[in-house]
Amino acid sequence: MAMNRAAQPIGVFDSGIGGLTVVRQMQRLLPHEQIIYLGDTARVPYGTKSAETVTRFACEDAAFLATQSVKALVVACNSASASALPELGERFSLPTFGVILPGAIAANEATRNGHIGVIGTQATIRSGAYERLVGELNRELRVTSQACPLLVPLVEEGWLDHEVTDAVLREYLAPMLVGGVDTLVLGCTHYPLLKESIARVAGPEVALVDSAETCAAFVQRELQWQHLLATEGEGSVRIHVTDEMERVSEMAGRFLGGPSHAVQQVELGVL
Ligand code: DGL
Repeated sequence: MAMNRAAQPIGVFDSGIGGLTVVRQMQRLLPHEQIIYLGDTARVPYGTKSAETVTRFACEDAAFLATQSVKALVVACNSASASALPELGERFSLPTFGVILPGAIAANEATRNGHIGVIGTQATIRSGAYERLVGELNRELRVTSQACPLLVPLVEEGWLDHEVTDAVLREYLAPMLVGGVDTLVLGCTHYPLLKESIARVAGPEVALVDSAETCAAFVQRELQWQHLLATEGEGSVRIHVTDEMERVSEMAGRFLGGPSHAVQQVELGVL
C-alpha cells in the first residue's frame, strides 16, 4: 500500500507563481515526483491580507489539490504557511509541509552570533511565525524581522538585477544590518529570485537562508521517512492557475529556470 501512495503526485500551492521557486528546488532533489501546482493568481497577493482570509484561501487551494489524489501537500507560500498550517492539518488528512519550519531550522544552524534577520510579506512578519519557531528551537537566539512589501511587485516586474531593487533592499535591510544580524532568512517565495541582489546589499558576512531550498530538502527527508518518496519514473510538473494572467507562462518559465511553461486555468470551490 505504501508503494502505491509513493507513486501519487505531490500537491504544491502558493498565492501565485512565486511558489515555483520551491518546485524548482523539488525538481532538483526529487527527480521522480509528479508535482501538481496551484497558483491562486486570481487572489494574489496573500501577503497583504488578514490571517483569516489567507487561511480560507489556503483551505480552498488545498481542497482543489485533494481532488487530484495527492499524497502530500506543500504550502509553498510563507504567508499561507504562517497562518494556515493548523487549519490545513485539521481539515485534510494529508502530510502537510510548510516553508517556515525548514527555514527556521536552517537559520538556527547557520547563525554564529545568534542574531537572525527575517524578511517577508506583511502577513508573514505580522504572524511572528519565524520568531516563534526559532524560539522553540533555541531560546537564546534573537530574531529581527522586517516586512518588505515592495519586493514582490519588483520580482513580478522582472527587476531582479536593477538599481531600484538594490536601493529598496538597502532601505529595508539597513536597520538589521546595523543591528548585526549574521543570518538572513528569505521568508517569501519570491525572494530567492533576488538572492544575488540581497547578497550584494547584505554583504559576504551575512548567510542567506533560502526558504525554497530548505523546504525542498525538508520535504525530501519527510517523504523518505514516511515511505512516500517516488524512486522511479520521470518527474513532471503540471501548473494550474485561477486567473488568466498576462505573461503567466513566461513568468512560470522564469521561476522554473526555463523559457516558458504551459499553464491551465481552474476554478476553485468555495468553502
Ligand atoms: N507567496 C507569498 C509569500 O511567500 C508572496 C506573494 C504574496 O504576497 O502572495 O509570502
